[in-house]
Amino acid sequence: MTATALPLEPIEKASIDELRALQLKRLQATLHHAYNNSSAYRAKFDAAGVHPSDCKSLADLAKFPFTTKADLRDNYPFGMLSVPRQQCVRIHASSGTTGKPTVVAYTQNDIDTWAQMVARSIRAAGARKGDMVHVSYGYGLFTGGLGAHYGAERLGLTVVPFGGGQTERQVQLIQDFKPDIIMVTPSYMLAIADEFERQGLSAAECSLRLGIFGAEPWTNDMRRAIEKRCGIDAVDIYGLSEVMGPGVASECVETKDGPTIWEDHFYPEIIHPETGQPVADGEMGELVFTSLSKEALPIIRYRTRDLTRLLPGTARTMRRMEKITGRSDDMMIVRGVNVFPSQIEEFILKRPELAPHYQCVLTREGPMDNLKVVIETRPGTDPQSDAAQAAARQLQHDVKTFVGTTIAVELKAEGGVERSQGKAKRVVDLR
Ligand code: DLL
Repeated sequence: MTATALPLEPIEKASIDELRALQLKRLQATLHHAYNNSSAYRAKFDAAGVHPSDCKSLADLAKFPFTTKADLRDNYPFGMLSVPRQQCVRIHASSGTTGKPTVVAYTQNDIDTWAQMVARSIRAAGARKGDMVHVSYGYGLFTGGLGAHYGAERLGLTVVPFGGGQTERQVQLIQDFKPDIIMVTPSYMLAIADEFERQGLSAAECSLRLGIFGAEPWTNDMRRAIEKRCGIDAVDIYGLSEVMGPGVASECVETKDGPTIWEDHFYPEIIHPETGQPVADGEMGELVFTSLSKEALPIIRYRTRDLTRLLPGTARTMRRMEKITGRSDDMMIVRGVNVFPSQIEEFILKRPELAPHYQCVLTREGPMDNLKVVIETRPGTDPQSDAAQAAARQLQHDVKTFVGTTIAVELKAEGGVERSQGKAKRVVDLR
C-alpha cells in the first residue's frame, strides 16, 4: 500500500462467518420491517403463506416471494414505501421503456449508506487521497450522477459535477482541471475520447488515471480498448435504482475480475430465469437482490433481469459477480439463436478497421428474423474501402462461427452511429 492509499472498512476484511451472521441479522430485521410497514409486502407474504419469523437461516430467504418491476409499477408512485413519505429525503425514478416510471425513495440513513457504498467502490477502484473526480453520469432522476457525487464527496475527494452531454466542454474541463478519476458510462467515455481526438488532443496523455464505468453492459475487450486508448485503469461499477443505484457492487483495481458485491448491505442470489429456483454459486442465471439495511424501500428478492453468476471473493471476502455482459431484455432471438450485443461487440473490437460504435437492428421479412449490425469504421478508414469491407466479412464469419447466427453488416463513416450521452442503446427492434 502506498502512503496515500485509503484504508478499508473492517467489514471488508471480516471472515465469511462474521459476514453471514451480520447478513442473517439484517435480513430478519428487513423482512419484519417490510411486513410490518408496507401493505404491499404484507399482502405478498400473506399470499405466499410466509411470515418473517419463518426466516431462520439465509437459505430460508428462498421461501419468500420475488419482487419485480411490475410490483413497483402497480404501487406507483409511493405504495411500496415502508416509511411515511415525509421521512424520505430523496426520490429517484427510472424512465423505463414503457408506461410509468419506476419510483424509488430514500431516508437520510439510506442516503448515508448509499454514499458509503459508492465511497467504498471508488476506493476499491484505486482512488487516493487528494484525487479529483469528474462525474459525467447524468444528474437528475437517474441515480448515476448524484450517486457518484455523494460517494466521491464522502471519500473526501474533489468532485466536478459535470453530468452528461456537452462533450466539447467535458474535454475542455478535463484539460483545464486535470481530474484523476472519471465516472461515466463506457459508451460515453468513447464519445469523450473521440472528442479529444477531434480537438487534436490525445486522451492517453490527459490527467485521468482511473475510469469507473457502469450503468450498461461492456465487455472485457471494451475494457482493454478503453484502457489503452485513454491510458487509464478501467473498472466496473454495478447497480440499479430499485436496489439503490450505483455501488451495489464494484470492481477492485488490483484484480479487475468482476464487481465485488457489497454483501453487508445487499444479499445476492442467482435463480434459474424460468423456474425461479435458486442455483449454486458458479452457475449462470438471473441475479436477484435483497436489501439488508434499506429503510424507505426495502427490496426483497428483486429480479434484476441481469444474467451472471456468483464467484468467490478474491480481493475481498465478499463474493463477486461475473461482469455482466447481458440482460434478458437485451437478448435477441434471431432464428432461434440467442444473441447478446456483447457477443458481437467482442468481435468488433478484434478488427482494427472498425470503431466500437455499433447498434443491432432487428427486422422481420415474412417469418424470418434479420439482424443487421450497423458499425462505424475507424476515423480515416473509408467504409467502402477494401480493408473495411474485408473486416465486415470477417465479422460476419466470426459471428456465424462462434455465435451461430447470420448477420448483415452495414458500415458507416465516423459519426454515422448515434452517440449515447448516457446508456447506449444497442438493440433497435423494428419487428
Ligand atoms: O444504471 C445505476 C448505475 C449508475 C450503475 C451508474 C452504475 C453506474 P438503472 O438506471 O436502474 O441504474 O439501471 C440498472 O443497468 O439492471 C443493469 O442491467 C444495467 N447496469 C448497471 N450497471 C451495470 C454494469 C443504474 N456495471 C440496470 N454492467 C441494471 C452491466 C449494468 N450492466
